[in-house]
Amino acid sequence: VPTAVLISGRGSNMAALLDAAADPAYPARIALVLSNRADAGGLERARAAGIPTAVVESRAFKGDRAGFEVAMEAMLAEHGIELVALAGFMRVLTEGFVGRWQDRLVNIHPSLLPSFKGLDTHARALAAGVRLHGCTVHLVRHGVDEGPILAQAAVPVLAGDTEATLGARVLAEEHRIYPAALAWLAAGRVRVAGEIAHVEAPGA
Ligand code: GRF
Repeated sequence: VPTAVLISGRGSNMAALLDAAADPAYPARIALVLSNRADAGGLERARAAGIPTAVVESRAFKGDRAGFEVAMEAMLAEHGIELVALAGFMRVLTEGFVGRWQDRLVNIHPSLLPSFKGLDTHARALAAGVRLHGCTVHLVRHGVDEGPILAQAAVPVLAGDTEATLGARVLAEEHRIYPAALAWLAAGRVRVAGEIAHVEAPGA
């Protein structure tokens, strides 16, 4: 299934998806890496892997989210994209975009949703004193960091943790669960019933 990965930064989750998709048996094919910033570190990594890349500068569309998305949609169409994976993509998408890609648009968030939606999740987890933290892969709905959950992984919060040490522990899990969850979606194993996503056994 031709899949686009949307990034804004270093792209370590994108790299994990590219690595997984390098296996011909992987059900998603990364056909495009699209960034809203020309300086996103992940672009270089994608180019080195021989993956088509595109930049749609969100800055060039200041105050015109619809125009920005029209430009993105054109890129997605040009590359025959059927699934979109957000991987550190730092723009909020409109209801229109999210609706058009309903159940074909997936995100990774560095917390155990529904806790700690939004930014600075590791600092907030430390400040809250939670003993478990983690990451979530979910289908995207209109609300930020909302939508049916596909996969989660939990990590312990350890004494002496900093944002950096906790974040690194979570990130290692992100790199594990995102390729797995995208594979389920691409293989057609995800059924959505209301707010809940069910993952069927392979071949079911
Ligand atoms: C990750 O923590 C991801 O969960 C969040 O943004 C960060 C992106 O990191 N949405 P990377 O660009 O994938 O390295």
